[in-house]
Amino acid sequence: MAGGAARLLLSALLAALPAAPAEPQLRFRPPAEAPVRLFTEPELARYDGQQEGQPIYLAVKGVVFDVTSGKEFYGKGAPYNALVGKDSTRGVAKMSLDPADLTHDTTGLTEEELKSLDDIFNNVYKAKYPIVGYTSRRILNEDGSPNLDFKPEDQPHFNIKDEF
Ligand code: HEM
Repeated sequence: MAGGAARLLLSALLAALPAAPAEPQLRFRPPAEAPVRLFTEPELARYDGQQEGQPIYLAVKGVVFDVTSGKEFYGKGAPYNALVGKDSTRGVAKMSLDPADLTHDTTGLTEEELKSLDDIFNNVYKAKYPIVGYTSRRILNEDGSPNLDFKPEDQPHFNIKDEF
């Protein structure tokens, strides 16, 4: 009796299980989104355009762009070289190369400067240069824990290009 009931239960359980897949399942699945690279300040500082043949990176609003293709603006001795190897958000917002403005800090910027910053961020940097990562300030909270509100920027035109 008890054995019969147990068999019944077992067959009911087996029937409820999904059918075994015909093909062996892949153990490794690529992540749904590309991994995000995090840059500390010293890491970002290595990409300051001083070494010939090395990539040149510039961060705006905590987003790190590869601006190597704009070497005539950002390379060694070029007019905007001071902006690279760091987060230059404030300088871009104010159109200033003053070393005091070459910082992520947006404290006290005017509405107009913030609008100009967003225009340049979208229409120059996101449009022209591929994103290679984010500053730690953008990804982490002050205590080093992950910022759960972080969302990577989308840049669909570069994803398409990457497939070729
Ligand atoms: C006399 C002053 C300036 C002149 C005549 C000037 C001129 C120009 C020109 C002609 C371009 C467009 C180049 C091109 O697309 O082929 C440009 C781009 C740019 N300028 Fe200036 N500029 C001046 C000052 C500044 C200053 C002070 C900043 C400070 C942040 C600045 C930041 C930029 C940036 C970020 C770009 C975009 C570069 C890119 O496409 O990657 N400019 N500038």
